[in-house]
Amino acid sequence: MVAEEDVTGSGEIRAPRPCLITAVVAFQFALAPPAAGAQFPQAANGEDLADAPGDAIYAASCANCHGLDGTGLAPSLLAFEEEVPDFTDCDFAAREPDADWIAVAHEGGPVRGFSEMMPAFRGALTEEQLTRVMGYIRTLCTDDNWPRGELNLPRPLLTEKAYPEDEWVVELGVDLESDGGTSAAYVYEQRFGPRSQVEIVIPYGWRRDGADLRHGLGDAVVGVKHALYHDLDVGTIFSIGGEAILSTGDESVGLGAPGSALEAFASLGQILPGDAFLQAQAGYKAPLYESGANEGFGRVVLGRSFTQGEWGRAWTPMLEMQVEHHFEPGSEPHFDLLPQMQIALNTRQHVLANIGVLVPVGGDDGHGHARPVRLLTYILLDWFDGGFFEGW
Ligand code: HEC
Repeated sequence: MVAEEDVTGSGEIRAPRPCLITAVVAFQFALAPPAAGAQFPQAANGEDLADAPGDAIYAASCANCHGLDGTGLAPSLLAFEEEVPDFTDCDFAAREPDADWIAVAHEGGPVRGFSEMMPAFRGALTEEQLTRVMGYIRTLCTDDNWPRGELNLPRPLLTEKAYPEDEWVVELGVDLESDGGTSAAYVYEQRFGPRSQVEIVIPYGWRRDGADLRHGLGDAVVGVKHALYHDLDVGTIFSIGGEAILSTGDESVGLGAPGSALEAFASLGQILPGDAFLQAQAGYKAPLYESGANEGFGRVVLGRSFTQGEWGRAWTPMLEMQVEHHFEPGSEPHFDLLPQMQIALNTRQHVLANIGVLVPVGGDDGHGHARPVRLLTYILLDWFDGGFFEGW
């Protein structure tokens, strides 16, 4: 057990100190963060942490609540009600990017909509020291099968991400030209195991037909995705997936195809220098009914995240490009451009919205008509990080 080991590097065996008194000291600290230059962790331990390695700073500053082994002290040993997270649980820890955790440790829990029982260490520890602590905390999850949260790039409007997700999304698309056709979809995604995910999509559509407004279910989708490769050092995640597109829609209203179809795809996420990123997806759709044509598609997204203030919410402008081609005589590939902006809506940044415009730049709809400009938007909840109304 880590508690018996020499985690301070000082040659001395340091036992965990799960006593109420240390928790109370920390608790007071939480309520009244010290001014810049205050000596809280040093004073508590009587040692200078300036050049100390991450494990020693952790033992001195974090273990009081998080436990030397990182599993978090039992509520009975703490002077507050909040549950302390388990840093050894890869399913929880791997998905959180360092930047968010450093923000929480520097500014305190409330900066990401967590409890103020998680104190602010600004003034006591520098960002550089906290980065060292983070390096140590990262050794507590020992299974590197779990893709790291940094590879969880912002969700574009069309391109399927490579990262497996626990989220639901409500999408809305409105034709800004022609008959103002509107489509909505509820997307539910759930991870299983370190690298896999299932997905269900339930679309709904509205069409104007003369004086009537017709509406109904579209073609529902059931899909799976699996990350074949991920490496934070290279900044890459690569996944493959498959979808069954079920013919649940009413095609007489223009909702859905006459039969079911199967789709296979590959997705790539790549972190670029300067908080920029690239995502790409290529796929092939084969209809299971006679009149349908096979279809190939490719999508590429370039984007960059900007932080509002030093620790604030993320704004992510992206430019998405798509090409689609139906493999049937006389059919031309169509191209679309989709400038868009994703915004974190709440403090915890697990409720996000994206809004963009799909602009066709080439190819008709297959019947000789120009394809309409569409307004596309979604709102999503990373439900693993809390409910919709938490962390605002
Ligand atoms: C006074 C007790 C206390 C101390 C000391 C403390 N923490 Fe915490 N920490 C908490 C509590 C309580 C939570 C859970 C907050 C919540 O879920 O609302 C937490 C949560 C966190 C989280 C999780 C955020 C998430 O994504 O769920 C991180 C990261 C963290 N602490 C890092 C640290 C680091 C690093 C240190 C030392 C530099 C430290 N903590 C010291 C009490 C403490």
